Amino acid sequence: MFAGKKILVGICGGIAAYKICELVRELQRQGARIRTMLTPAATRFISPLTFASLTSAPAAVDLFAPSADDIEHIELAKWPDMIIITPATATTIAKCAHGLADNIVTATVLATRKPVMFIPAMNTGMWENPATANNVMRLHDFGYRVVEPEFGAMATRIEGAGAGRLPETETIISHVFQYQWPDKILDGVPLTITAGRTVEKIDPVRFISNHSTGRMGFAIANVAAAMGARVKLVHGPTHLRPPANVETFSVESARDMFEFTREHYPENGILIAAAAVADYRPLHYSCSKIKKQKDEFALPLIKNPDILLELKKLKNKSIHIGFALETNDVLANAAAKLSKKNLDFIVINNPVDEGAGFAFKTNKVKMLFPGGKILDFPLKDKLEVAAEILQNATRLLINKRATE
Ligand code: CTP
Repeated sequence: MFAGKKILVGICGGIAAYKICELVRELQRQGARIRTMLTPAATRFISPLTFASLTSAPAAVDLFAPSADDIEHIELAKWPDMIIITPATATTIAKCAHGLADNIVTATVLATRKPVMFIPAMNTGMWENPATANNVMRLHDFGYRVVEPEFGAMATRIEGAGAGRLPETETIISHVFQYQWPDKILDGVPLTITAGRTVEKIDPVRFISNHSTGRMGFAIANVAAAMGARVKLVHGPTHLRPPANVETFSVESARDMFEFTREHYPENGILIAAAAVADYRPLHYSCSKIKKQKDEFALPLIKNPDILLELKKLKNKSIHIGFALETNDVLANAAAKLSKKNLDFIVINNPVDEGAGFAFKTNKVKMLFPGGKILDFPLKDKLEVAAEILQNATRLLINKRATE
């Protein structure tokens, strides 16, 4: 996700400082080169040695430390592709909002011309204080990105669930990913995605479902948000955390997924159906657990609505993209779905391809267009696959808008 990217992480003096070790690790796992700097207060919560060990590079703490070719904060300010300040405390936010440069972190922020993202975490009272709100507004005005802290339990446990909590590492990674995305080709475009599996209940303890994790749909949502789209994600049960800047609707059954997708159907935008929807559900739901009886047991099923097919019939101006998961007669089956559902293109994948399918972070796809054009891609990270899908969708949307 961040292959070759140079990221400078500035750690401030808040209890969430310990969580930044995991963030640094995850950024590294995703290919980033990391350097770190700590405010004096941060060193009271966590040792610079921890970050030096994690990154195999010195953690900067001293504003006046001599450096080989430049003054340290000037050298640090020039080095990265982007800077992350986290947990951004009320004090560091206030200092940066007023151009103060009294420690290595604030001095580097003042000196840099690189993009800076603040990820605050603090006590709810401090976050909601008008002084902090005003300082955050100033940071926005200066062109910095400030991520909203989350609601939920914090170290002091005072006032329980107020805002101020540091987002989970996965969410921070999604914010960073979207921030460093270069082109906003979908700026303001409404885009709805279905993702994951549906669950069709048989009785209070059993259900019909499949192995879909939602990874592909979530990756599309993440990249679409990075490209500037207004993303709505209707998803079935999954362990995945939703990407940043995406409106999510968690559903269970195919019928619920249909209702929510219809309600949030994009007008003059893009609909991507990546969900593995159960084709059938039990005809009758049994309110009590079904008991074991004869050797053979037949469960009557009834067809679920085909979400994509039904929505396409509404004939709005959106681009419609489907997925075809096929194990045999791949192209013929996908071509039949493309034409039956009247799609703008269909993304074909085969779960038995190596590295492709449900739980993998990679996928190997083909895109089939009306008229028979095929784009065949090698095995790629699902985020890269998502970018290919969205670039093609954008091209079609631009053409459609131009011809209407
Ligand atoms: N789809 C949908 N609603 C359904 C079934 C499928 O919206 N009830 C969408 C999927 O999200 C996907 C496309 O239709 O984009 C094709 O889904 P797939 O399960 O591959 O095909 P089906 O149409 O269900 O046909 P079959 O199960 O016979 O392969």
